[in-house]
Amino acid sequence: MRRLLVTGGAGFIGSNFVRFVVERTDASVIVLDAMTYAASPEALADLPGDRVEVVQGDITDAALVDELVGRLSGPHDAVVHYAAESHNDNSLQDPSPFVQTNIVGTFTILEAVRRHGVRLHHISTDEVYGDLELDDPERFTESTPYRPSSPYSASKAGADHLVRAWVRSFGVAATVSNCSNNYGPWQHVEKFIPRQITNLLEGGRVKLYGSGENVRDWIHADDHSSAVLTILDKGEIGRTYLIGADGEKSNLQVVRLILEQLGHEPDDFDQVMDRPGHDLRYAIDSTRLRQELGWAPQFSSFEEGLARTIDWYAEHRDWWGPKKAATEAAYAAKGQ
Ligand code: NAD
Ligand code: TYD
Repeated sequence: MRRLLVTGGAGFIGSNFVRFVVERTDASVIVLDAMTYAASPEALADLPGDRVEVVQGDITDAALVDELVGRLSGPHDAVVHYAAESHNDNSLQDPSPFVQTNIVGTFTILEAVRRHGVRLHHISTDEVYGDLELDDPERFTESTPYRPSSPYSASKAGADHLVRAWVRSFGVAATVSNCSNNYGPWQHVEKFIPRQITNLLEGGRVKLYGSGENVRDWIHADDHSSAVLTILDKGEIGRTYLIGADGEKSNLQVVRLILEQLGHEPDDFDQVMDRPGHDLRYAIDSTRLRQELGWAPQFSSFEEGLARTIDWYAEHRDWWGPKKAATEAAYAAKGQ
């Protein structure tokens, strides 16, 4: 039976993956999560206790990481490394935890998998590639040069480089995936889509950075999870896979869809102070993952996935409600 150590398994995407694996395979999972402000242990609460063990701890704690990685020994066992500081806006306020968790934390994981000879799958982002022009005909591919813009994306780029160096220099059995922007249940209300949905559900207004021309390439978190499981099962060691679902939309388009689905007028939004260094466009070419490993996304309609996400937030006020006031106060203090 496969055993997985999932770092950041109480976060938005990590918890989705834990659920995905428990519901679709017979694997058992150890979650290692520091339970920062971004964690949602509630997202794991209904999963069977004999399949999912949750350990509260930091990925920079070398002794703890060594002990947990040392429990993996089967041929299909692996560390799936999601834990990170994940929000660009926070990295502009205080980059320090981003360097600590994303770079030093990844180093700590790498040293443990090296010592124990355990497979690693490292979760990264398309933001390591910087941004594209709106009319750029090329999307990001596995050979696009790294050109990160923010402390967040630079720290993720640093982590990716460490993983590649450990593969080449020490023979660590690792794969890397770089995914585009995720949406779905359990995403923190600091992020774009949940922030706008919950603003409207609370009777507030949508907050758009700048003109809203910035483009993001949206993928449902379930599709990210299915891609990661596919890479674990069939990926080639040492290889990087880009994960995307051809979901490019401008922020203005997304805002208008949310407004429409919640019964508001298309111009019912506030334009607020833009993010410094704001990346213009991200877009993923996931041909390698689709052709070499046979993966395909299941969410074919962003509009439908968004409608389901709106319904989910409407039904889970008890989870996001307590996080909302502090998040909005921090944005208001920055004019956003
Ligand atoms: P998140 O912020 O929702 O969750 C991160 C989790 O990591 C939290 O549960 C937090 O408690 C935990 N964590 C943070 N620091 C830790 C530490 N030092 N030790 C142990 N645990 C720690 O983030 P997310 O959106 O779920 O992103 C997960 C991963 O996916 C990240 O690596 C991120 O870079 C990557 N990613 C995210 C997106 C996106 O759209 N959100 C897109 C592509 C890639
Ligand atoms: P975000 O969810 O922070 O993800 P990322 O920075 O990783 O792409 O933001 C997505 C896009 O939405 C990004 O272009 C910034 C923009 N944005 C807003 O317009 N308003 C907001 O309130 C937030 C949080 C983001």
